[in-house]
Amino acid sequence: MHAVDSSLPLIAPPAHPIAQRMTPERYATRVERQRNRERYQSQRYDPLYLISRIIPVNQTIRWGLKATGLYRHARREFTTPRLVHLEHRCPRWPAAFDGLRILHLTDLHIDIDPGLIPAILAGIEGAECDLCVITGDFRNSHDTPRQEVLQLSQRILEALPQPVYGTLGNHDEVELAEPLEATGLIRLLMNEHVVLPFRGGQFTLAGIDDTFFHEAGDIPAAMAGAPTAQESPRILLAHGPDIVEEADRHQVAFTPCGHTHGGQICLPGGKPLLAIDKLPSHLLAGAWRAGDMIGYTSRGTGGCRVPVRLNCPAEITLHTLRPA
Ligand SMILES: [Fe+2]
Repeated sequence: MHAVDSSLPLIAPPAHPIAQRMTPERYATRVERQRNRERYQSQRYDPLYLISRIIPVNQTIRWGLKATGLYRHARREFTTPRLVHLEHRCPRWPAAFDGLRILHLTDLHIDIDPGLIPAILAGIEGAECDLCVITGDFRNSHDTPRQEVLQLSQRILEALPQPVYGTLGNHDEVELAEPLEATGLIRLLMNEHVVLPFRGGQFTLAGIDDTFFHEAGDIPAAMAGAPTAQESPRILLAHGPDIVEEADRHQVAFTPCGHTHGGQICLPGGKPLLAIDKLPSHLLAGAWRAGDMIGYTSRGTGGCRVPVRLNCPAEITLHTLRPA
């Protein structure tokens, strides 16, 4: 396994508590939205939430798959995440750093089906990378005790190649961040960045908090004080791909993200049966380009609501960055 630089600590230790790192105002906004989830959820565009007020969506999905004989297949698609190898030609990625490899997991929702853990461990076995990232949604249910999410996440973190950096997603409570970091197995980037040495040079790895529900993401804050993109090319971790224009304006070379689950339950060909959030269809799954930035929306390693997938297999992604 190749670490970014074996002469440095594997994970850059956080200098301050989470609230300080996010700014106290952003932290307070996030906690307020967590506490009053129902009220905020009813105010925003979320077709699944609106439908779930009328019909029991989860039971209907289960019933529909069983009635059509697709349930076992959909369970198998959920429980067998595949390692997907991809190369990206990035206009802002320098030739000197050709070949940086990023192992990308996202949307574990690990409490929905802890039986997924052995499949994830099998999926990452033997994967060689320089850096590992998890782009949020460690947790699925707001009712799952924090300690349980932590223990399940730790089983995956212990198996991942170091260093591991991450962000939180819209399902994660901010109080999960410090215990996650206390494992010593992951460093979260809460609207902040680290500069990592690589092949005698350096690149900037920034990350933002959730923008979808908690409105806590802040790219300018994450990039504040960073070297210029010319001195240190930029990678941005974000839970979802709703930040493309702003990330491009900040000269980001590559953005791995998740959140959409690729639709999770799709028609043959990958068109989702139920769209998630207001996102252009090209951002729903796979690679995309915004200006000179290349991004990738993972279909997700886990998924939410019901542990099934249809025409949208779970994935662990190994990105290799190349210059354009
Ligand atoms: Fe998710």
